[in-house]
Order: sequence, then structure tokens, then C-alpha cells
Amino acid sequence: MPVAQTSVATSPVWFAAGFALRAYNTFGFDVRARYACRIESEADLAAAVRDPRAQGLRTLVLGGGSNVVLTRDFDGLVLLMALAGKRVAHEDSHAWYVEAAAGENWHDFVSWTLEAGMPGLENLALIPGTVGAAPIQNIGAYGLEMAERCVFVRAIEMATGQVVEFDAAACRFGYRDSFFKREGRDRFVITAVTFRLPKVWRANAGYADLARELAQHHGGETPHARAVFDAVVAVRRAKLPDPLELGNAGSFFKNPVIEAQQFDTLVVREPQIVSYQQADGRVKLAAGWMIDRCGWKGRALRAAAVHERQALVLVNRGGATGADILELAEAIQRDVLARFGVELEQEPISL
Ligand code: EPU
Repeated sequence: MPVAQTSVATSPVWFAAGFALRAYNTFGFDVRARYACRIESEADLAAAVRDPRAQGLRTLVLGGGSNVVLTRDFDGLVLLMALAGKRVAHEDSHAWYVEAAAGENWHDFVSWTLEAGMPGLENLALIPGTVGAAPIQNIGAYGLEMAERCVFVRAIEMATGQVVEFDAAACRFGYRDSFFKREGRDRFVITAVTFRLPKVWRANAGYADLARELAQHHGGETPHARAVFDAVVAVRRAKLPDPLELGNAGSFFKNPVIEAQQFDTLVVREPQIVSYQQADGRVKLAAGWMIDRCGWKGRALRAAAVHERQALVLVNRGGATGADILELAEAIQRDVLARFGVELEQEPISL
């Protein structure tokens, strides 16, 4: 409930001290923030960080809260990103350039681009979270990463209040990684993202689960973008839990990438291991498969559990804490290391 709202149009809404974050993190952890305020514009953001209550406090930016493990109350200021708006910023004969504000829901944005006849993001349907969170961990699924479509990220530098535009190279995108997750963390707040959607469209339907789903409904036909979108939604619904029903943050670990030499030794011991050859000669391993083979699928530690249909996803069965999830994650990491000699890196940020 808002407790203070000044009459200045650009002032953000501040919420009561001890703000409950349960509805603002997809694990549904029951923790509180010292302060929270709702950011609807870049001016709101500037005003929030200048506010006397914010001085000397840490800040935490929350979009959909789908990539964070909140282990305790946050003794700082939470910025609830609610910047809205999406538009075709520019169009030429080759592509549409579509800009969306950071607070837009990612899946609604993807649906909107398709309805407007601008395909290219359909493989990323149904990923929880907001547009502003997408570049931070370079969201990806079914053979596409957002980095392949992202041309600009607009952000505010917290220390100076200045607007900074990052082109794709400056974002330093990697597999579930970017500048914003590393050096830029806590320094910049993303306010908008621009995507380039090429007018010549080709289905990206090679990913095994997706190809299977499409073959079932479309046989050998080349699918159109809406069919790819529907197939992605169907595959995700079948495997991944809906955070509104079962708290989770998607894949809890990254798929580890190892050197070819290490893989050659490992595959002799584990001939069934699921792997993907990388362009640089290294090999990516399916962490979900390894966790599954260690017998963790469906197992629980108190209310923290490994999802029954996808071992890479940890879930809150109700009443789990962030510490429970981290304890479970550590037990899994120990077992995978012992059996496969591979370290699993956590994907969501813990706080
Ligand atoms: N597998 C198992 N058991 C399991 C889980 C997976 O044997 O419990 C096997 C599967 O049969 C498959 C392989 O492992 O052969 C890979 O599984 P899947 O296709 O489900 O994909 P993933 O590698 O586990 C990644 C992304 C997901 C993304 C899917 C589809 C990461 C960390 N995760 O999962 O992204 O949706 O591919 O592209 O890269 C996310 O990042 O939050 C996320 C959900």
C-alpha cells in the first residue's frame, strides 16, 4: 500500500517500510525489504535514488523477480520496475526495430510482436520475467538467445543519473551472461531494450523437443512463426512449472561447458551423457541430465525440491526459504562433481 506520494508528477510511489516481497519473486520466498518503490519512468528512477530515504542504502532492481534467490530480508531499497510501452521505433526494407520498456512482461511483448506481424522472438515465448531483465542473463531457449535480436540496451547509470546506450557488443553477451550481470551489476539500471527483427524470416526449429512437437502437428510442412510460438508454449508447459503454481526460477544451473580433452575422458565413463559440441571446440553438457542421473529428480530437502519433469529446475513446494533452496543446490553440486568431475554454476543471483 502506498504510504507517501508527493504531488510532483515524476515522483515514484513509495511503499510502506517492511515491504513484503513474496509476490515479487517467482520462488515466492517470504522476505521483506526495508523500502520499495514503484518505478514508472526514468524520472522516477532518478528521483528514487536521490530521495533522502535511499541515501547509504543498497538497491535491488526487481522486474519479474524470476532470476533471484532471496535468502533473507533485504535491508535496502527495492526498485520495482514498472516502465511500460512498446513501439516500432524504426523500420527499413530489411528489418523492424522494436523498442520495449523494461517493465513490460516478456511473454506479452513476444506475443505482441507476432500479432503485429513481426516474427523473430517466437522461440523465446513463455519465459517468465520482464523485458528489462532479459539482457542481464541473455535469456535463451530452443535454439535462440535474445542477444541474436538485441541491438540496443538503454540504461541509467545509478551514480550519475545519466542515460547510457549500449550496443550489442558493449553488452558483452555470453551464454546466460552479459556485462549487466558482471561489471555493470549494481551500476546500471536497464530502462528499455531495442530488438532488430529481420523481415526475411526462417523458422528456427532444430531443437529436438521443438522439432518433435512441430512434427506432431505439422508433419513435414515448414511451420509459420505462430506454429513455432505455439509449439514452444506447449513444450514449456509440459516440462517447466508455472511459477504461479509452483515457485521456481527456471533452470537453477547453467549447462557447464568443458574442454574437449576433459569430455573425451568423461564420455568413456559416461557414454550416454548428453552433450553439445561448441564452435570453439569445447563441449556443453546437459546439467539436467547429470542431475537426473545422480538420482535427484523429484527429490526434496524439506520444502525445497527438484522438479519432477526437469531436474535442472528447483522448486518451492510451499514454505521453503532461499536457504533451503541453496542447501539443496549445494548437495546437487557435490553429487554432480563427485560423479562427473564437473562443477555446476548457479544461474540465478542469490541475495
Ligand atoms: N534431461 C534429462 N533429465 C532431466 C532434464 C533434462 O535427461 O531431468 C536431458 C533431456 O532429455 C535433454 C537434455 O537433458 O536431452 C537437455 O534438456 P532440455 O532440452 O530440457 O534443456 P536444458 O539444457 O535442461 C536449456 C535451458 C532452458 C531452456 C531449454 C530449451 C539452460 C541452463 N537452460 O535447458 O532455459 O528452456 O534449454 O532451450 O541453458 C532457463 O534458463 O531458465 C531455462 C529454462
